[in-house]
Amino acid sequence: MTQRSVYDQILEFDNRADPYPLYAELRRTPVTRADDGSYVVSTYREIVALLHDPRVSSDLRNHPDYPCPGDKASPGLPPFFISLDPPEHDRIRRLLMRHFGPPHDPDRIVSIAAEMAEIVGGLIDNLAGRNEADLVDEVAYPFPVTVICQLLGVPREDQPRFRAWADELITAIDPTTGDFATRRRRRDAVHAELGAYFGELADAHRDHPGRDMLSDLVAENGPEGRLSRDELMTNMALLLIAGHETTVNIIANGMLTLLRYPEVLQRLRRQPELSARIVEELLRYEPPVHFLTSRVALDDIDVAGTTIPGGTPIVLVLAAGSRDPDHVPHPDVFDPDRPENEHLGFGGGIHYCFGAPLARAEAQIALPELVRRLENLRLVSDPPPYRPNPLLRGPRHLPVRFDRVAPAPATRGREQREAERQMHSVLAATVC
Ligand code: HEM
Repeated sequence: MTQRSVYDQILEFDNRADPYPLYAELRRTPVTRADDGSYVVSTYREIVALLHDPRVSSDLRNHPDYPCPGDKASPGLPPFFISLDPPEHDRIRRLLMRHFGPPHDPDRIVSIAAEMAEIVGGLIDNLAGRNEADLVDEVAYPFPVTVICQLLGVPREDQPRFRAWADELITAIDPTTGDFATRRRRRDAVHAELGAYFGELADAHRDHPGRDMLSDLVAENGPEGRLSRDELMTNMALLLIAGHETTVNIIANGMLTLLRYPEVLQRLRRQPELSARIVEELLRYEPPVHFLTSRVALDDIDVAGTTIPGGTPIVLVLAAGSRDPDHVPHPDVFDPDRPENEHLGFGGGIHYCFGAPLARAEAQIALPELVRRLENLRLVSDPPPYRPNPLLRGPRHLPVRFDRVAPAPATRGREQREAERQMHSVLAATVC
C-alpha cells in the first residue's frame, strides 16, 4: 500500500478530533507538495509572508481548473469579495465596512453587546429544569445566527432556508467532497439561490427601511458610490454565511477547551473580564478555520527553499502556523496568560477576517455566560463527535451535563453586575 501524504492524512475523518500531531509533522517541511499538485505551507513565518504577497491571488478564476470542463457561460452573479483580488476586493470591502465597524461606524458592534447578552441569556434560560444539553444545537449555533440576522436585517423565520444553503456552501469548500469543478458548480448553484433571496430582501428594505445594515447599504450614497445590486446580493450572502460555522465553532471549541482546562473555567466564572484573553488564545489553540485552500500563485514564488510555480494552488495551514514552536513558546498548551499572542485565527493581509470584531464580541459574551450559569458543568464524551469538514473544524454536537441553570444577570447581586460591567468595557477595548 502506498504511504499517504501527511496532508492527505489530515483530510481523513479519523484524524479530525486531534490533527495537531500531524500538523507538527507537516511543519518539519514548511512547504510540501500534496497529491493533487497544490503546495501546502504550514509554518508561521512562511504563511504570514504569503498572506501579504501580492503574487498570491484569492480569485477563483486564476485556479488552473477554471473554467471547468463542460462549463457554459459563467453564472450571472459576481464572485464573493473574499474571492477577489485588488482593486475590486478593496473597493467592495471598504463600501461594506462603512456600515459594519471602524473607522466609519466604530460603535456598531459594541452598541449591541447588551442585546447579544440578552440573546445568549435567553438560550441558556431555555435549558432551565434540565441537566443535559447539546451546546452546539442549543446555544453555539442559534446565538450567532440570531445576531447576524438582526445586524443584516434578515428575517429570523427564514433561518431553515439559509441554514440549508450555508451547509451546502460549507460542504462545497471541503476538499474531501469532490474535485474543484464539481465543488465549484455546487457552490455556484447555492450562490445563485442565496443571491436571488437577497435581491428580494434588498428591494423590500429599500421600500421599508429598518435600522439594519441592508437598509443602510441600499440607501448608501457615500464618496465612493454604492455597491451595484448584484454586488450587494452576492456579498450580503457572504456576510450571512461567513459567520455561520466559524462563530459556532469558536463557542463550541471554546467550551470544549474550558472543560478540558477546569482551572481556567473556574477563573472565567469568577472573572468574566478574562474572556478577551481566553478568546484570543482559543483563536490560536483551537481555531475554527484550519486552512485556506483558496490561494493561487500568480508567479513563481520562492518559499523556504522551495519554488512554488506560477499557476499552482496553495494551501495555507493556519492552524499549524499558530502552533509553530518557532513562533510561540509551548504551543500545545492552552495558556490565556501568554504575554504575546499573535495568531492566524482570522487570517492576515488584505483578506483579514471582516467579521472579527463581531466574532470576538460574540465569543467574549457567550463563554462567561455559559460557564457561570451552567453549574458543575461536565462533558458527556471526550472527544465529542466532529463535523466531517477538515477546513472549518469543530464538534457537530457538544453534549454536556450540569446540576442546575443559575438565574440570569438581572436577578443576581451587585458584585456580579459590576463584574459584567467590567467585562463589557474590556469588550469595547478589544473587539476591534
Ligand atoms: C470566530 C469566528 C470567525 C473566524 C475564525 C473567521 C475566520 C476568517 C478567516 C481565517 C478569514 C480569511 C479568509 C481568507 O484569507 O481567504 C476570514 C475572512 C472573512 N470573514 Fe471571517 N471568521 C469568523 C467570523 C466571521 C463573521 C462573524 C463574519 C461576518 C460578519 C465573517 C466574515 C468574513 C468575511 C466577509 C471575510 C472575507 C474578508 C476579505 O476577503 O476581505 N467572519 N474569516
